[in-house]
Formats: sequence, C-alpha cells, structure tokens
Amino acid sequence: METLHIELDKRSYAIYIDRNLLARLPGLLDPAESWAVITDEEVYGLYGKSLLENWRSDKVHAIVLPGGEEAKNLQTVGKVAGQMLDLGLTRRSGILALGGGVIGDVAGFCASVYMRGIRYVQVPTTLLAQVDSSVGGKTGVNLAQGKNIVGSFYQPQGVFIDTQTLRTLPRRHLISGLAEVIKYGVIYDYEFLTYLDSRLTDILNLKDDVLKEVIRRCCEIKAEVVVADEKEQGLRKILNCGHTVGHALEAATDYREYTHGEAVLVGMYAETLMAEELGLIDQRYCTEILALIGKTGMEFSLDSILGEKLVDHMMKDKKNRDSRISFILPRGRGETAEVLLTRQEAWGLLRKFMG
Ligand SMILES: NC(=O)c1ccc[n+]([C@@H]2O[C@H](COP(=O)([O-])OP(=O)(O)OC[C@H]3O[C@@H](n4cnc5c(N)ncnc54)[C@H](O)[C@@H]3O)[C@@H](O)[C@H]2O)c1
Ligand SMILES: [Zn+2]
Repeated sequence: METLHIELDKRSYAIYIDRNLLARLPGLLDPAESWAVITDEEVYGLYGKSLLENWRSDKVHAIVLPGGEEAKNLQTVGKVAGQMLDLGLTRRSGILALGGGVIGDVAGFCASVYMRGIRYVQVPTTLLAQVDSSVGGKTGVNLAQGKNIVGSFYQPQGVFIDTQTLRTLPRRHLISGLAEVIKYGVIYDYEFLTYLDSRLTDILNLKDDVLKEVIRRCCEIKAEVVVADEKEQGLRKILNCGHTVGHALEAATDYREYTHGEAVLVGMYAETLMAEELGLIDQRYCTEILALIGKTGMEFSLDSILGEKLVDHMMKDKKNRDSRISFILPRGRGETAEVLLTRQEAWGLLRKFMG
C-alpha cells in the first residue's frame, strides 16, 4: 500500500493508495462511536452496499443522495444533518464520504458544520476525486448564484483511495480526471508530463501499477502545494491553471454541457496557446502539451467555444484583481506564471485561436 503524509500540524493526515482497499476499509479506520457513510445512488449500488455488509456493525448508516452536481446545495446539507441527528450521530461520530467530488464536497462540508465539526474521511471513487478534490480540505456547496460559494477549509482524518473503483467509472469521467492529472505535470513537474505522455494508453486501459503511480504523484504534488499554502494565499493558485477558461466555459453552458474536468481540458488547451502567444513557452513545448491533451480522446473545437460571452464570464473569476482577468499560464517546463489581462486584452488574444 502506498502511503503519503500530509503535514499540517494537528490537522495532519495520511493518504492511502491501493487496489481493493475498500474491502479492508473498516479495519483501517480510527474507531468512532458511529459512522454515516454519505454516498450517491450509483456508488451505493456499486460499492456502498457491500461496504456496509462487510462492516457488520449496527453503528454504521448509509445516507444516499441523488447523483450529480444538482445535489450539491444547502438543502442537501440540511437534509443530511437532519438524517444524521435522527440516526443518533453525535460529536464522537464520523462521516465517510464515498463517491466522486460532489459527494466529497457535500460530505466534507456537512462534517465541518454538524455539531460544529466532526471527523471525516474521504473515500474517493472518481479519478478526479482521487487526484484532486479529496486532498486539500476544500469543502463546499453551490448557491443558485454560483458554484462553491458556501464552504470551508476542513481537513479529513484520512484519504483512502481504491484504484480498483476506477474500473466501473464511465470513460467520460476518466477523461475528466485526466485533465487534472495533466495539469499537475504542466504546473509542477515536466518529467511527470513526459511520463504521462508515454503512459497515456496504459492509463486509459486502467493498468493498475500505472494508475497507482499516477495517482500517487498527483496526490504528492497537491499535498506539497497545500502544505505550503493551505488557504490559497499564494502558491495554491497554481492549481487553477486551465481553470479561468474552464470555469467560464462551465458557467457559459449552465454547467450542463461539460463536466468540470472536460472544461479544464479545453481551458488548458486555450491557455497553453495563450502562453505561447505571449512568449511564456516555446512552440515545441506548446505542441507537446496540446498533443497530450489530444491523446485523451476528448474532441472539441475552439471555434465554437471561444467568444465574447466566455470572456464576460471570465470577468467574474474569483482570482481577478482590479478588473483584470487572472490566468495561471504555463511558463517554461513545469512552471506557471500569473498573467493579468484586461477584458480587451484577453479577447484580443483568444480570438486569434479561432479559425
Ligand atoms: N474540493 C475540491 O478541492 C475540489 C476540486 C476539484 C473539483 N471539486 C468538485 O468536484 C465535483 C466533480 O467531481 P467528479 O468529477 O468526481 O463528479 P461526480 O462526483 O459528480 O461523479 C461523477 C459521476 O460518476 C459517478 N461515479 C462515481 N464513482 C464512480 C465509480 N467508481 N464507478 C462508476 N460511477 C461512479 C457518480 O455517481 C457521478 O454520476 C465538482 O462539484 C467540483 O466542484 C472539488
Ligand atoms: Zn479543477
């Protein structure tokens, strides 16, 4: 079993990565008075039911939410808290988040506010959650006005990653996770990027030793960034590479057309082109990144995606300063630079990439 340690003083915890970890999970957890396993319908059917059967404890309860981003709201938090109270969960109970990023964000937020905060562990089952959302302690839900508006920084007690769960993940969600995987190579580790390039087929074919290595390196990078800057005052911003265009694309299409990862993949494509246009990276490196994005198999056309409406959405990005749009662009291999552009400058640049 791979084990990584996140050193955050009293909030330190470990990330465990292995195949078939789910079967051993009950024995690996610190004891709690009782547990609420929060999951969604799909994941409950695939993994939750057997986890509870294995556990053989009348102190473990499942709370099953409908799947998808729609469930990530304050009404759900209220319902979950009410159910937890009815089930008799106390301050000495724990929450186990079993599912993708949506479940992780909702369950983590519930843990941070239920009786002013109880322990929780993350058991991510999508690639995106395994390499990104389960690590770092950001939790939260959406409001009608915007995504992740209400939330907290609340670290889990442990992250348990079972690579075997990716076998049932639809290809579309595997590619979404790959977006964040490629991002780590771009922002932090050129050697890892070349490794990804040589192993992309193995990843798409779910070769277990490669998956394990990829997830380990991504968690390691995220951990290093989070330990250096837990609350996103500086370095943690680099994790937003590809996300300025990506978030705008999600918003412009009402969060219906693209998954988060797909939008980030498109965002990284456009932002890599921007970096080359601004002279931050050379043409060879630019081509290398674009080719790797292409290898994931996601198809899109910037012509139909870019437009002034997209730039309008970028104007609302949380990272912006002084009415200028903040982009985290690749600068040389394995590095990034924050570039602030006015609306006109951003649009002037982006329209060059349209046919
Ligand atoms: N907290 C953070 O730091 C952070 C970082 C990145 C993204 N996020 C959030 O994560 C969310 C996206 O997460 P996601 O991409 O994991 O989506 P998701 O949680 O909606 O999961 C995608 C779909 O896959 C299904 N699924 C999950 N595991 C499965 C498995 N093993 N086999 C088959 N189906 C499975 C789910 O039921 C769901 O329908 C967004 O809400 C985003 O804001 C949070
Ligand atoms: Zn992301």
